Amino acid sequence: MIEHRHLRAIAPQGSTETLPSLKPWYESVRAASLTIAAPLSDEDCAIQSMADASPVKWHLAHTSWFFETFVLEPHLSGYRAFNPAFRMLFNSYYNAVGDKHPRPQRGLISRPSRTDIVAYRKHVDAAMQSLLRQPDAIAGAATALITLGLNHEQQHQELILTDVLHMLSCNPLEPAYAPTELNPSGAAPPLTWVDYDAALVEIGHEGSGFAFDNETPRHRQYLHRYALASRPVTNGEYLGFIADGGYRRPELWLSEGWDWLNAHDVEAPAYWRRDGGGWTQFSLHGSRALDLAAPVCHASLFEADAYARWAGARLPTEAEWETSAAPYPVDGNFAEGGVLRPMPAANRGAPLMQLFGDVWEWTQSAYAPYPGFRTATGAIGEYNGKFMANQYVLRGGSFATPKSHMRATYRNFFPATAQWQFTGFRLARDA
Ligand SMILES: [Fe+2]
Repeated sequence: MIEHRHLRAIAPQGSTETLPSLKPWYESVRAASLTIAAPLSDEDCAIQSMADASPVKWHLAHTSWFFETFVLEPHLSGYRAFNPAFRMLFNSYYNAVGDKHPRPQRGLISRPSRTDIVAYRKHVDAAMQSLLRQPDAIAGAATALITLGLNHEQQHQELILTDVLHMLSCNPLEPAYAPTELNPSGAAPPLTWVDYDAALVEIGHEGSGFAFDNETPRHRQYLHRYALASRPVTNGEYLGFIADGGYRRPELWLSEGWDWLNAHDVEAPAYWRRDGGGWTQFSLHGSRALDLAAPVCHASLFEADAYARWAGARLPTEAEWETSAAPYPVDGNFAEGGVLRPMPAANRGAPLMQLFGDVWEWTQSAYAPYPGFRTATGAIGEYNGKFMANQYVLRGGSFATPKSHMRATYRNFFPATAQWQFTGFRLARDA
């Protein structure tokens, strides 16, 4: 997702959330954004370290703008905007809403201050509380939009962390977002292969629970026999690819990937740094020796694809991934656990490990509409559908994804060169 690659979408049927459950959920999600920003200084919150990233201050304002624009203005009678100029300033990419401030210039917005933006959040929250006290107003479309706004804010919570990591990585002092001493993580379980028979399967979301529109409609896919690796590729395994000249062998790379790594002198996933004969990796916990047992993180689709070719395998399709993951509980190393890095897989006796949490898993599937896909009407229809070109699907969530945000049908998407997200990969092969 570009910025919102993170942008997936809303199922037109909305959600089954009711007033009693929506109010505490709203309060919890809104509070979580401020908790994520709490360790950061005002200066930290103002920086935009690259065009793909946004200042923390902007994330905190834009998520409020979403509620103001799509929920309060159309559904709360008498609502007055906190500052009418914010309609343009914090619009991300909704052309139907009107003008927007250029994305690459978000870091130049020194004012409103962080204090002003926190006041903006409080203004929106107070109005939302008024709306949430009106059961009639909460019915139908408003409920669906509030649910979407909360899922949208959860997406931005992960983006705050990905963008903060990039921002801090630009500082030669290597400051840590969470300067926690972590114990060595141990060893990863051996990689095994789990075979699946050919089958006509169904993937995609259906039912009354929330899903973004890009997860619908549920539809049939035919899968040939395949095998899926029991866990994602580890840093230690990836070192073997580097040591074997993986980044210097054009036969392993897609053409665009080879051009990309040469144009940008890529020699490893993002935040890997040579340290004598070894490697360190900069993380939200600061710089530390590369954890050989942990999954590869910050690999691009091109790197994942090249590694898979080197290993005599391939990346799974999203239909293979979803079909294999669907029977498993959505459990793993998620944001709620407070561990701000991917951890090694733990063998709990199930054939597949680490499907959810730790790292988003690249698939070989282009981010495209499912058969019968339709965007929502109005500006909100811009949430997902218009990004369905030149991006690839990722599955499963990361350590920075809220657990309540994840499900087996969830489709994240980023361009093939993206490294700053928490992205790893799992191998597949034809069986
Ligand atoms: Fe957004």
